[in-house]
Amino acid sequence: MKRIENYDLSARNTFGMKVKCALYIEYDTVDELKSLDYKALPQPLLHIGGGSNLLFTGDFPGTVLHSNVKFLKYVDMGLDEVLVTAGAGVVFDDFVAEVSGQGLWGAENLSLIPGEVGAAAVQNIGAYGVEVKDIIAGVVCLDTKDWSKTIFKTPECAYGYRDSRFKHEKGRYVITSVLFRLNRRYSPRLDYGGVRAALEGHDLSALKPSEVRDAIIGIRRAKLPDPAELGSAGSFFKNPVIPREHFERIAEGNPVAPHYDLPDGTVKVPAAWLIDQLGFRGQREGGAQVYEKQPLVIVNATGSATPAEIIALEQRIIAKVKEKYDIVLHPEVEHI
Ligand code: EPU
Repeated sequence: MKRIENYDLSARNTFGMKVKCALYIEYDTVDELKSLDYKALPQPLLHIGGGSNLLFTGDFPGTVLHSNVKFLKYVDMGLDEVLVTAGAGVVFDDFVAEVSGQGLWGAENLSLIPGEVGAAAVQNIGAYGVEVKDIIAGVVCLDTKDWSKTIFKTPECAYGYRDSRFKHEKGRYVITSVLFRLNRRYSPRLDYGGVRAALEGHDLSALKPSEVRDAIIGIRRAKLPDPAELGSAGSFFKNPVIPREHFERIAEGNPVAPHYDLPDGTVKVPAAWLIDQLGFRGQREGGAQVYEKQPLVIVNATGSATPAEIIALEQRIIAKVKEKYDIVLHPEVEHI
């Protein structure tokens, strides 16, 4: 177990904010986590994963905890369905690479999403028509109330768009591992945006999960910054969902407004389009910048952007989108 006081969190948040916490603890086993005297630690407590969806708005006065519990265990009965348990600290994309390489379908569309397995199950990460809830069979937690082991089946996790019960019952459950349900049977999902087009030239009837993974990696690399080179936390805002009448008013002035009709009659509008329409692409606030290739992403362009600069840019975008479209954008990135 690692225990470091007055810890510099720069390398623990992909935005690269130079902030500190009073205490940082990284545990290697669930028993180590259980052995902590929670009440004696600097408060509040915050569990982080890869730090790829966080914006620290300043120094953190409490304890940051991080799981280094890394294991992958297959439950393979020789049937189509294969169960895989992964420790919360496994890098999510390592898991995707591994299972896709084994010829198992289900995770490949989620390739290259930054972060770790535990946080993926909190955030219900999603991309290219798949959300992680679609392949989760259960989530294993420690209930900090009495340190008992609690297993939630997927329907009990209250999953929604980038949402789950773990976000609402903050701090109560610590995810220790996640049980995934994957499949040997040919089951690619190619009907989202440019996925099928990216596979042109491939024999679709003999497709392997690793080929879809490679295609997804290509699409993401073209659009999203690599956090190792340019600090960001992926999409900064959620895509807003609005009533149909509201969308029709927007479409009157913009016949090409992109949108996706949802089954309940509401309409999802890409926040990137709204932000782009208002001329924000490439705009800066100090070291913070709206990413040129994808205006839904805010980047730490200079490497020394401050939380205040990022928040100033965020607020400018929210205010303009509200003024012009009467839509309130909500950040996807968690502000700490
Ligand atoms: N959409 C569809 N069908 C499509 C294409 C798009 O329903 O064929 C919907 C999507 O549900 C999405 C919206 O239209 O909400 C816009 O989609 P687009 O592919 O343009 O992507 P985006 O809004 O730029 C979202 C995610 C990304 C994810 C991509 C690809 C959010 C906030 N962002 O981005 O996730 O990689 O879709 O699936 O939902 C992240 O969360 O950090 C992130 C990068």
